[in-house]
Amino acid sequence: MAGEQIRLLVIEDVPQVASHMRSLLNAQTQIKMLDVVTSGDKAVPTVAEMRPDIVIVDALLQGRMSGIHVAEAIRSADPTVAVVMLTVPQNPVTQDPSRGIDAVLKMPFTGFDLTTLIRKTHEDRSAESARSGSMMIALFSPKGGVGRTTLAYNLAVSLGVGHRVCLVDGSLQFSDLRGLLRVPAVAPSIVNLPTDRIRESDLADVVWKDPSGIDILLAPPRVEMAEMVTTRDIEKALGIIRKLYEFVIVDTRAGLSDDVLVFLDASDLILQVLTYDSMAIRGLAMASEAFTAIGYPPAKLATILNRADANGGISKADLEEALGQAIDFEIVSDGRLVLTANNEGAPFVSSSPEAPISQGLRQVAGALVAVQSERGMALAGRT
Ligand SMILES: Nc1ncnc2c1ncn2[C@@H]1O[C@H](COP(=O)(O)OP(=O)(O)OP(=O)(O)O)[C@@H](O)[C@H]1O
Ligand SMILES: [Mg+2]
Repeated sequence: MAGEQIRLLVIEDVPQVASHMRSLLNAQTQIKMLDVVTSGDKAVPTVAEMRPDIVIVDALLQGRMSGIHVAEAIRSADPTVAVVMLTVPQNPVTQDPSRGIDAVLKMPFTGFDLTTLIRKTHEDRSAESARSGSMMIALFSPKGGVGRTTLAYNLAVSLGVGHRVCLVDGSLQFSDLRGLLRVPAVAPSIVNLPTDRIRESDLADVVWKDPSGIDILLAPPRVEMAEMVTTRDIEKALGIIRKLYEFVIVDTRAGLSDDVLVFLDASDLILQVLTYDSMAIRGLAMASEAFTAIGYPPAKLATILNRADANGGISKADLEEALGQAIDFEIVSDGRLVLTANNEGAPFVSSSPEAPISQGLRQVAGALVAVQSERGMALAGRT
């Protein structure tokens, strides 16, 4: 992420080459050289321990493991780490991310060559692992009370059948999910994550394990604590969450504030929630213009019409025209079921799976699973 130091590990048995790299990197601060490992078989354990973003491996490494094998072993042990193969013109190596060779650096190289390649390879790999690792969906509405929290929770629980799902409480001031699930005030929140480099184990300590089987990253327990969460903290937390879960669902707060935009930017899909309410429709039409101006592609946007059977005298055609978008999903009203389930802090998709509202949410979940598997296949076929 922008502004963060890139952590580099070097697997190199020729001391002169390692010290040359170190002196070239001394002139800058963006890349931090963590250590030099001189034997190939120590590479994977050191990667696990030091958690570099990028590893440079000498293709001509002597000893039991060749450089090529080291790259392959790192890729299969931790696919999120980028690997650059260092070689000489007499020993050409072909770039092959499937075998752990994301880029090739040829000797001799300048400080500029080294830093540019590290930066670019790191960025490409981060984007790749974020994309292939998970699908992130934010439920958004400019207007409050349209059902984002209810739908987000029940959608997450539907997806949780057969998938690793994290629900993120993006309602940072009022923590709607704490209220819905009646989580104790002492339960940790996004504020309890470290502010620098977050590890997977830190996240495991902080997420709320809901009895429904999904994990939830809660918002802080008190309104004023929302100020302690910076947009950068959110970006960092989402980065690590995406590595660990197949689906990340975000319940945002109403409006298009900076904190909401961080969630929307990071999402693959924005599920715009609305009802047959002229103000909700107008607000969403205005937000759509903002999304176009920001440059979000149309494929990033979908619409979910909640309480679709309560049209308040507006036809669906008129709604779609006013909105400037078609409705992708419809969820019916079920006041009694929703109220009871929400008051118990339980998912109605589990307690009443046959209710039409639950079936509607399962359809949305099914469509998301289909999109995700198509994306996975497209990525796998792209080399
Ligand atoms: N499909 C539905 N059928 C019946 N009631 C619903 C439905 N969806 C939401 N509700 C009710 O509408 C109210 C608002 O829902 P919810 O809190 O999920 O909306 P929200 O968009 O998250 O609101 P907020 O702006 O407060 O964050 C709740 O009382 C909920 O029980
Ligand atoms: Mg809410």
